[in-house]
Amino acid sequence: MSNVDLMNLIQGNIHALKPYHVENIDCDVKLHANENPFPPSEELLETFTASIRNFQLNRYPDPDSKKLKDSIAKRLNTDTSRLVIGNGSDEIILLLLQVFCSEGDSIIFPDPTFAMYAIIAKGLGVKPVNIPLNDHWDFDADELLKVAEHNKSRIIFLSYPNNPTGNCFSENQVRKVVENFSGIVVVDEAYYDFARKSFVGEINKHNNLVVLRSLSKIGLAGLRVGFGVADPLIIDQINKVRLPYNSNTVSQTLAEYLITHFDPVQKQIDSILDERVRLMGELEKMDSLTVFPSDSNFFLFRTEQSADKIFRYLIDNGILIRNLSSHPRLNNCLRITVGTRGENDQFLSKMADYAQIGNP
Ligand SMILES: Cc1ncc(COP(=O)(O)O)c(C=O)c1O
Repeated sequence: MSNVDLMNLIQGNIHALKPYHVENIDCDVKLHANENPFPPSEELLETFTASIRNFQLNRYPDPDSKKLKDSIAKRLNTDTSRLVIGNGSDEIILLLLQVFCSEGDSIIFPDPTFAMYAIIAKGLGVKPVNIPLNDHWDFDADELLKVAEHNKSRIIFLSYPNNPTGNCFSENQVRKVVENFSGIVVVDEAYYDFARKSFVGEINKHNNLVVLRSLSKIGLAGLRVGFGVADPLIIDQINKVRLPYNSNTVSQTLAEYLITHFDPVQKQIDSILDERVRLMGELEKMDSLTVFPSDSNFFLFRTEQSADKIFRYLIDNGILIRNLSSHPRLNNCLRITVGTRGENDQFLSKMADYAQIGNP
């Protein structure tokens, strides 16, 4: 029998971390994770069933994800040498940190933003630095560049649109950062399909620019597929630390199908965008709520009442959204992913009930 002092073996950076808490409360209406509320199209499911027999599941997947990369290169009008596939785009965040940061270095981002930048950095002993977003959830490029320089930050992360605030930062401020920073600028376009604003077209001009995309928000969250677009030199370095089989056969095949048969997904995206307008409009009519503008498939709103209580009330009624109240800048803020029309109606009806009964 062994009784090793395991706590003593654990690396200091990991000791200090708390596990990333993913809210997974069992609710019928899940509007908390910015997923696509619609199931995959019939065509995609048929392809899946038809290909099951052809998947060589006893063989390793293609380590270069060649077919998938070909389809992305074609769609983005770029070259496969500028692409890397990740097991979700958050894997690429990790790989970028491994390539560009040593323990003790820093990365920087405007705050509030996607929590994983800081979490992944801390796990590697890299210091996350942030500058506060202004009241329009935007930032000033000069200020960001100044703090980045002061901290000798290696990477700037810009979530574009920004999760959880929902908006795209000012294009000219992002461009100024890309043009003037002497480190890496990651423009994280996980929500691109809803914003349709992108810096991908500028990859050829800036060798320090990395654009991240994800298929998680448009229907394949369960398959974990994300990709990065960057200068081939950056891609080559990422490939040195990337595990060879990070993307599995099923994910590669279905992601390629989705990208080459985009019409059904586009219809889903269009309907989510229509619903976003309706949902935000209905919520804006309610008293004591501030709804923030959105370029995404989710949006943020602030309540004058206790957001914790509304959050709990919704859970008790089978609806899960995201409570962001614990962030100092997001006091009484909640984030909701746009669902199907029926799901959104359920949410609106429970919000109206809550307003009726006041503070239960
Ligand atoms: C801004 C942002 N970037 C990246 C991700 C990670 O997405 P993926 O599922 O591709 O890892 C998310 C997921 O919520 C996100 O909000």
